[in-house]
Amino acid sequence: MTGTLEHLADPGPTPDPPPDPAQDPAQVPRPSPVRVPVVELSGVVKEYAGCVRALDGVDLTVGAGELVGIVGPSGSGKSTLLHIVGTLDRPTAGTVAIAGHDIAALTDRRLSALRARHIGFVFQAFHLAQGVSAVDNVAEGLLYSGMPRARRRRLAVEALARVGLADRAGHRPHELSGGQKQRVAIARAVVGGPDLLLADEPTGALDTASGETVMELLHALHQEGATIAVITHDTEIARRLPRQVRIRDGRVVADSAPSEPGKGVS
Ligand SMILES: Nc1ncnc2c1ncn2[C@@H]1O[C@H](COP(=O)(O)OP(=O)(O)O)[C@@H](O)[C@H]1O
Ligand SMILES: [Mg+2]
Repeated sequence: MTGTLEHLADPGPTPDPPPDPAQDPAQVPRPSPVRVPVVELSGVVKEYAGCVRALDGVDLTVGAGELVGIVGPSGSGKSTLLHIVGTLDRPTAGTVAIAGHDIAALTDRRLSALRARHIGFVFQAFHLAQGVSAVDNVAEGLLYSGMPRARRRRLAVEALARVGLADRAGHRPHELSGGQKQRVAIARAVVGGPDLLLADEPTGALDTASGETVMELLHALHQEGATIAVITHDTEIARRLPRQVRIRDGRVVADSAPSEPGKGVS
């Protein structure tokens, strides 16, 4: 067999025609599965009473496996955007589709079901149930799954292990550090295997070192295939995210190219 370059220079004899793929089912190329974006916002406007236009025509698509930073100054509409993407609120105008579901077509009840099944939330202030052990807080993330309690607890223990807190399962929130509380909150958010993890300033209440640990955890979940949108006004954190969407006065003013799933920077 001659080398590739020589082969190109001299086409040689006409090769046999390639086998007809229709003759051999194994050779028929299968259509690649259609990848529905996890988030699809088009022309989204959100007005609050008092004529505050918190979102002013946002178009945003997030594909499966992306890690996106939503960055912008205080009051720019980041939390409003997260509420809309998280289906906690409906837009005044525009369309929102989550995992291919047009939320305008869903009743509040069906929307709650979609949210429970597809979306995990992490907030700046953790929102853990006080007086309840870490494992029970995490198991709460499966409350709407219909699983029996023992299975929920077993999965919760596994989720705590994933965030490095296997040895804190019995601790209640007041017995945990801020960073540990946020890791419990992340375990609760991901225990049901959501299509989308939304985090609103997850490091906002933490010291630098704990914040780093939380961001490392989000990066690790992204490497495992999770789709994550994280709000931050910390430019240092944002810089390390593979895709950054900048918002100002309720509008997307910059969007670095959609990233490849599982790829990070730096
Ligand atoms: N529930 C609300 N009612 C009225 N105005 C609101 C409400 N929530 C947010 N806003 C206003 O909408 C704008 C965007 O707020 P927000 O989305 O919280 O910004 P960010 O999270 O970027 O700080 C701000 O001007 C804020 O005052
Ligand atoms: Mg906010």
